[in-house]
Amino acid sequence: MPLLKMENIQRHYETPAGVVKALDGVSFIVEEGDRVILLGPSGSGKTTLLNCLSGLDSPTGGSYKFLGSEVPRHHSEKMTSFRRENIGYVFQFFNLLQDLTVLENILLIQELAGTKNPARAKELLGLVGLHSEVNRFPGEISGGQQQRVAIARSIAKRPKLLLGDELTGNLDTETSKKVMEALVNACRQEDITSVFVTHDEGLIRYATRVIRIDSGKIVSDEMVTNVNED
Ligand SMILES: Nc1ncnc2c1ncn2[C@@H]1O[C@H](COP(=O)(O)OP(=O)(O)O)[C@@H](O)[C@H]1O
Ligand SMILES: [Mg+2]
Repeated sequence: MPLLKMENIQRHYETPAGVVKALDGVSFIVEEGDRVILLGPSGSGKTTLLNCLSGLDSPTGGSYKFLGSEVPRHHSEKMTSFRRENIGYVFQFFNLLQDLTVLENILLIQELAGTKNPARAKELLGLVGLHSEVNRFPGEISGGQQQRVAIARSIAKRPKLLLGDELTGNLDTETSKKVMEALVNACRQEDITSVFVTHDEGLIRYATRVIRIDSGKIVSDEMVTNVNED
């Protein structure tokens, strides 16, 4: 069974100027283990698609199935549980708590989920290459390292699907590479499927698949053949 399947997804906005078709008939399947990069110009519908995938927003038409079941809509409690159980999200701005150490930032998330486990928290930080930084404060590490803490935090609950919107948008090219490498490593180790939005073609090498979107429609969907893929 695929992880998720979207069929003819529409997301239309009614505005005073008329209907905006942010998504206009999007269909695709994501298999478990896929690492998808979603590319497209500004205003093409990338964020809208990510928000529909995550259950933050509801499509106005079409079908969205996750592990075979239709995803709940319209800000229902079921939609919140769907998100909580299945989805992890990495933001462009890391949003770490500055008064807590790197380790405490992860412990807090575990605590909120009722699964506090310091050994596991350290393991997660190790996965993103931060074993030596666990006792530092966010203000004492680089932007790239902070983003890696945010990644560890977002996978702490082992989401089935990890989403990110321009998560390297704030970082320079070298740092972006390190963050993407940490991300790929963590997703592989934890069996997490991912979909990341970017406009940086240089990140394609970290994906197994590239979907291009324009004016709310998928214009291409291709597998990436990576020489360094094992
Ligand atoms: N709340 C909204 N109301 C009306 N139009 C919107 C709204 N959100 C997004 N849009 C429009 O939908 C289109 C896609 O937006 P978005 O998904 O943010 O694109 P991207 O992330 O690719 O830049 C754009 O034309 C945008 O102006
Ligand atoms: Mg966007």
